Amino acid sequence: MKVSVLQYEPDYLAVAANLDRVESMLADLESDLLILPELFATGYFFRSTEDLQSVAEPVPDGPTTKRLHDWSRRLGCVIVAGVPELCSGRLFNSAVVVAPDGPIGRYRKLHLYYQEKLHFSPGNSGLPVFDVTDRTGVRYRLGVMVCFDWYYPETARSLALAGADVIAHPSNLVRPDCPRAMPIRALENHVFTATANRVGKETTGDETLEFIGQSLICSPDGDVLGRMDRDAIGLATVSIDPLVSRTRTVTPHNDLFADRRTDAYVL
Ligand code: ACM
Repeated sequence: MKVSVLQYEPDYLAVAANLDRVESMLADLESDLLILPELFATGYFFRSTEDLQSVAEPVPDGPTTKRLHDWSRRLGCVIVAGVPELCSGRLFNSAVVVAPDGPIGRYRKLHLYYQEKLHFSPGNSGLPVFDVTDRTGVRYRLGVMVCFDWYYPETARSLALAGADVIAHPSNLVRPDCPRAMPIRALENHVFTATANRVGKETTGDETLEFIGQSLICSPDGDVLGRMDRDAIGLATVSIDPLVSRTRTVTPHNDLFADRRTDAYVL
């Protein structure tokens, strides 16, 4: 199957224009799984909670999830994308998962970064893993984490222990370290990872954040299968066999998960 990550620069709060731009970037896409960045249609560095409220929407009934589903149906592709979710008056930094047949779930970011804590509630939906199908009918298991979740190795580990073959990772990275860390998250859990980041800058007036691009897709052996440049705009696509993640033999005497010493760890 093919996995793709999209990297671009959204305009702050310009949801309709951002959706149109992403749609035009996807026109010729042939892929089974597409990852879009965190908060891909709204921008990230909210100047106020009112700004965030003005673009937050219910999931799955909001317009962005509906548009994602249109794309998924037309492309025959599962899509994971970051959306600001409004639920019972609370705001979550969420990622939705849509398949051609319809939306199949969402994940609410557990580990909020920096000023996200001023505006969002921390996730309360656990770490679900979704059963999905590629265009040839191969079923695989898809986990989702959002950006700063990478900093907590427990996140990727929990998804892998729950059976994820591929971890989709919508991001708005500003720290330089994640592109170095993701091959290790993939290796230490023997999963595929696909990080879709954005580029450009956003300012609140007082402070400016610069996003670091470098979207990347990693193999269960920790190899970087595809990586975009810091300022690149476009898509990176690689071919993978998602089910190779399931063989976790390290040596004839070592199995990655069976050998875990949960009796000795501090959790
Ligand atoms: C981040 O979690 N967006 C840095």
